[in-house]
Amino acid sequence: MVKICCIGAGYVGGPTMAVIALKCPSIRVVVVDISAPRINAWNSDQLPIYEPGLEDVVKQCRGKNLFFSTDVEKHVREADIVFVSVNTPTKTQGLGAGKAADLTYWESAARMIADVSESDKIVVEKSTVPVKTAEAIEKILTHNSKGINFQILSNPEFLAEGTAIQDLFNPDRVLIGGRETPGGQKAVQALKDVYAHWVPEDRILATNLWSAELSKLAANAFLAQRISSVNAISALCEATGANVTQVSHAIGKDTRIGPKFLNASVGFGGSCFQKDILNLVYICECNGLHEVANYWKQVIKINDYQKNRFVNRVVSSMFNTVSGKKIAILGFAFKKDTGDTRETPAIDVCKGLLGDKAQLTIYDPQVTEDQIRRDLAMRKFDWDHPTHLQPLSPTATKEVSVCWDAYEAAKDAHAICILTEWDEFKSLDYQKIYNAMRKPAFVFDGRNIVDVEKLREIGFIVYSIGKPLDPWLKDMPAVA
Ligand SMILES: NC(=O)c1ccc[n+]([C@@H]2O[C@H](COP(=O)([O-])OP(=O)(O)OC[C@H]3O[C@@H](n4cnc5c(N)ncnc54)[C@H](O)[C@@H]3O)[C@@H](O)[C@H]2O)c1
Repeated sequence: MVKICCIGAGYVGGPTMAVIALKCPSIRVVVVDISAPRINAWNSDQLPIYEPGLEDVVKQCRGKNLFFSTDVEKHVREADIVFVSVNTPTKTQGLGAGKAADLTYWESAARMIADVSESDKIVVEKSTVPVKTAEAIEKILTHNSKGINFQILSNPEFLAEGTAIQDLFNPDRVLIGGRETPGGQKAVQALKDVYAHWVPEDRILATNLWSAELSKLAANAFLAQRISSVNAISALCEATGANVTQVSHAIGKDTRIGPKFLNASVGFGGSCFQKDILNLVYICECNGLHEVANYWKQVIKINDYQKNRFVNRVVSSMFNTVSGKKIAILGFAFKKDTGDTRETPAIDVCKGLLGDKAQLTIYDPQVTEDQIRRDLAMRKFDWDHPTHLQPLSPTATKEVSVCWDAYEAAKDAHAICILTEWDEFKSLDYQKIYNAMRKPAFVFDGRNIVDVEKLREIGFIVYSIGKPLDPWLKDMPAVA
């Protein structure tokens, strides 16, 4: 029986391994993590992450060929294939701070693999890493190998949170990078054999190591670039009276462009886009490619501009001050169908409004109060480090209260900001909400999900990103 061990039971390690276990009953899969609470949660009825369909997959194979454990060394030692899916945050200190990837967690995992191994292993990079990380890992492993043969593969993960299970069941492609040596190619074939249990062969792509590593960074940069492109156009739409939804639809009909990832919004978030672009920028700079670095940096700058623009719209519409005004924040996760808040635009928008002394009532169906307070208290880039390395008790957030209901959040509020596109926000009883709010009552839709005309009929002043402006807002232009 092939034995797989995955180091890192996070958003990638957990779902990916659960799907491998489900699709390959002949393989034994153990997911290990240094975080006992996380592993306990994976072994309980309350999984540590929310992902549609995940619970069902885990329940089908947990205890049969899928296990979760904190005994990292034992399971690594026993495995034939070791996936490494630890976090690779942006460095907060030292060389490359604010840009380069922090490989502390990766390196310590690699050293541990070298220390405990007693048999040959295939080590698979699942984490997103800078180009040539495999080479560094290879050096760590071979210099400590005690004669054991390690083959390193790069197998970046392309799943999207919120649709992770669907993406894993039916991936556009699986990418496997390996050394072009006989040993390397044999390892590539072994991993191909795992995926071949359910992925059609023509979707399993084999490349060299560096191409696989770079493809992951490039794919995320391209996806984020589309969002920043449409968001840049949304600002122009507001200035000219065009409607960004109509423009996106028209652009997307061009088969060379395609319709996906063209929704204007308050900005992209999530643990990967910004981190991976910063990483790409750093690699370009290290290679003296400053023009290329500046090109990609602009994708992040437009994203920051879009969040600022949103905050400025809110403040300027409400007589240039939100001081002491209650504002309901609907949605805090970085997108619907996930509880993940890493780099969510909601953090910057809330901080912007708190900076203008607003009182916030926040509601998200999947994010806990503790997480929200932690996020609002955290320094930039600290979010992707383990909890014990994050700042202790949240401060400076007494102007924030967290509710378990959108109606409660909106009661007596001057305005509502929709920051996540949860389906339930489309079907709220907005008349009931309007009746319970202060007047004039504002809706700032950062995800373009409400029926603007219907809300205006009710009496709301509505701002919807990239849509023709409410007459009220026209007289109060926001300067970004
Ligand atoms: N989240 C996504 O949608 C996504 C998608 C594709 C790729 N990625 C990449 O995958 C990697 C993991 O991302 P994630 O979102 O799953 O992160 P995560 O923070 O949810 O999970 C990482 C886990 O690794 C554990 N860990 C760290 N060091 C360890 C060690 N030495 N031994 C054992 N466990 C250790 C941590 O405790 C944590 O539970 C990152 O490189 C990320 O860029 C993420």
